[in-house]
Amino acid sequence: MARRRIIAGNWKMNMTPSEAVELVNTLKPLVDNADVDVVYCVPAIDIVPVVEAVKGTNVAVGAENFYIEDKGAFTGEISAPMLLDAGVKYVIIGHSERRDYFKEDDAFLNKKVLKAFASGLTPILCCGESKEQRENGVTIDWIRLQIKSDLVGVTAEQVASMVIAYEPIWAIGTGLTATSDQAQEVCKAIRDLIAELYGTDTAEAVRIQYGGSMNAGNAAELLSKPDIDGGLIGGAALKPDFGKIVNA
Ligand code: PGA
Repeated sequence: MARRRIIAGNWKMNMTPSEAVELVNTLKPLVDNADVDVVYCVPAIDIVPVVEAVKGTNVAVGAENFYIEDKGAFTGEISAPMLLDAGVKYVIIGHSERRDYFKEDDAFLNKKVLKAFASGLTPILCCGESKEQRENGVTIDWIRLQIKSDLVGVTAEQVASMVIAYEPIWAIGTGLTATSDQAQEVCKAIRDLIAELYGTDTAEAVRIQYGGSMNAGNAAELLSKPDIDGGLIGGAALKPDFGKIVNA
């Protein structure tokens, strides 16, 4: 069975609520009728207006973060039931910025993955190596360790429904993109690991994205690779370029 492609924007800490609605409206004619899954992962405060703005279109909304408890004394946090009630379908987990700046480690990310599934959110689980790790030749070992740790206790059926994003840290927001061969090598290694852990049917079903300075110019080449099923797009998701990537 062919995997359906999935192109997701990760807006990060950009776009006020009114700017967000404007961006959705700008992108609307550009992503309309695309034969791929399109997702906007937006800041928490933009979720409600963006869900409203994409109504009746092919776009789903994702969150960039959430907390592992349903409710209670966790000042500043947002729970999975809140996201679901607002109309959110996907949630990014394990982005390198959250691992680095907010010190989210694999044990915590594993809890987030389990909580997302238990709640009915689809995780977009990120992994990726630093420049130093790539230079030292430990990229694949590192990615395997991250994914194995983050998926403890997750079932095959759950893995088949999720999205894994390979995002080399050295390529994020830097304008440096992994070559399509480098990206394919790691995305294939991820699929091989899933096959090892869960069997080939699960490995064939899970969707694996590349992320890291993907843009209108390089998307078609990256997406032509057999194990790259989509993209997680930062900077280029805030511009009409996103429409070109969706149609690449
Ligand atoms: P970028 O970000 O496209 O701006 O490199 C990708 C990401 O961080 O998801």
